[in-house]
Amino acid sequence: MSGRIPRQFIDDLLVRVDIVDLIDSHVPLKKTGSNFVARCPFHTEKTPSFSVSRGKQMYHCFGCGASGNAISFLMDYSHLGFVEAVEDLAAFVGVDVPREIGGDFSASDKEDFTRLYAVLEDVAAFYVDQLRTGDGRIAVDYLKARGVSGEVARDFGLGYAPQAWDVLLGRFERDALIDAGMLVVREDGKVYDRFRGRLMFPIRDKRKRVIGFGGRVLDDSLPKYLNSPETAIFSKGKELYGLCELLQKKSRPERILIVEGYMDVIALAQYGVANVVATLGTATSKTQIDMLFRYASELVFCFDGDNAGRQAAWKAVDAALSCLRDGRQIKIMLLPQGHDPDSLIRDEGKAGFEQRIEQAQVLSDYFFDFLAGPLNLSSIEGRSQLMTAARPQVEKIPPGYFKDMMWRRLRELAGSRVVELPEKPSTLNRQFQGKVGKAKTQRPSLGRRVLALLIQRPELAQVLAQRHLSLEGLKFAGQELLEDVLRRIALEKPENGAILLEAYRGSSYEKTVNALAGVELDIPEGGEEAEFFGAVIQLLKQSRQEKLTELLAKEGREGLNAEEKQVLRALLRERL
Ligand code: UTP
Ligand code: MN
Repeated sequence: MSGRIPRQFIDDLLVRVDIVDLIDSHVPLKKTGSNFVARCPFHTEKTPSFSVSRGKQMYHCFGCGASGNAISFLMDYSHLGFVEAVEDLAAFVGVDVPREIGGDFSASDKEDFTRLYAVLEDVAAFYVDQLRTGDGRIAVDYLKARGVSGEVARDFGLGYAPQAWDVLLGRFERDALIDAGMLVVREDGKVYDRFRGRLMFPIRDKRKRVIGFGGRVLDDSLPKYLNSPETAIFSKGKELYGLCELLQKKSRPERILIVEGYMDVIALAQYGVANVVATLGTATSKTQIDMLFRYASELVFCFDGDNAGRQAAWKAVDAALSCLRDGRQIKIMLLPQGHDPDSLIRDEGKAGFEQRIEQAQVLSDYFFDFLAGPLNLSSIEGRSQLMTAARPQVEKIPPGYFKDMMWRRLRELAGSRVVELPEKPSTLNRQFQGKVGKAKTQRPSLGRRVLALLIQRPELAQVLAQRHLSLEGLKFAGQELLEDVLRRIALEKPENGAILLEAYRGSSYEKTVNALAGVELDIPEGGEEAEFFGAVIQLLKQSRQEKLTELLAKEGREGLNAEEKQVLRALLRERL
């Protein structure tokens, strides 16, 4: 894609923004010592282990390991893409994002999308207007017949696409309409309106922009629902119907209900159950589940009680397993035969429906019921089938208490001693240590300390030159990365660690560098330079000692060549 954001702009942005202000505007922070802390927004916890450093311009969570700079925070917290995060950050600082094309700055790419958002917003307003004119009456009658209140129709921006082939064409810009998926282009190049004679549901993203539509027929012709095609700004696997409207009411709901139909979202909202979203006619994706877990720690999947519903629920469970970190919970709610949430809440009212939510089955029960249901567990065959089916699924769950307990349950059900639990229950131990001793109990190795210091405080690289320290002969596990970091620092002169981190985004070192940026070093303010110098010296000594041992061993074994002898002499001399 053309129109890259210039690196220099991103670096400047990271200098101008204060990460403490930025995060504080999303997650209120408390000052403790030189850091700011809060309960981590990326996992559920009772005591704060999320820490933001003004000096380093980075955040780190001791509980879940999340770490990064201001851009990473926005990407993870608001679930934005990189470019979106940069745009949000620029808006926070109050500057525009320039784009470069062959060295020139222009705003072309951004304009492209602005054009699409703008035309869709206008079309949505136009569809709303159509409810009041011409054949729009029949859509209003349809809504009334289905018991949809005027208020909720307004909240969700429902509208009507008139029964004609060229209503949009004369009114809005043709190319924008095509790119936004509102026109169908025929083979001969002629175009016509995609949505005709349909009740229209605008689909908005988290930032309240219309990105597409769903449209329902008003009779029983087919297809019943038609959705916008995938476009540059609309992806069915990533967006959710109703999320924007939900977040406007409540930015941190306790739980979110996931249903299948747009009309279900609307009926539930009308009856006061507002924490509901619907998928866009596709199976629930991992991306969607992860996104919802950013807002709530409990998700309830709501499916029809028939066989198709049970299969759909299983698919959702399957997609959800790899998202189930500790503290996240999923429940499955199967509806009585012949009902969907829309019909059920009209039948039973809010209280009745909410009671059913409370009674939803937890994922673990659903999981084993679904798999073991058809099997005869009193036979070896049945038990081994359960094992075969469940094992790869349980393996998808991220390490944690939940995974350990799923293993235990599987072992009990299969009644076998053959299933070795992973040696030490995967994380119980590790997490425990993490909680009690934070990073202090496991003092990072010398090499890690040097790397972590340098990444967190890139200006320390100067110490090497100032003190005439050569890294020649240095040999340790992180050697390659150290050289890379030093090279980047020399080249780009990052003003702080957050900028260095940015330079590694997308590189093969990204994960490692991010983790090192989060390592807590416990160095008193102002002591970094001495610490860094000391650690490098130590590391050099270690390398020399290792080389010495290696050469001495070789000398005894097979003798040394002239060059090796010289190195050995030099090393022995240094030791004296
Ligand atoms: P349903 O047919 O269960 O929807 O399809 P519903 O909300 O109960 O419809 P009403 O009550 O008859 O109006 C559920 C979802 O599946 C997608 C739509 O997203 C719909 O909301 N779908 C359904 C389609 O994409 N195309 C179709 O033809 C039907
Ligand atoms: Mn329905």
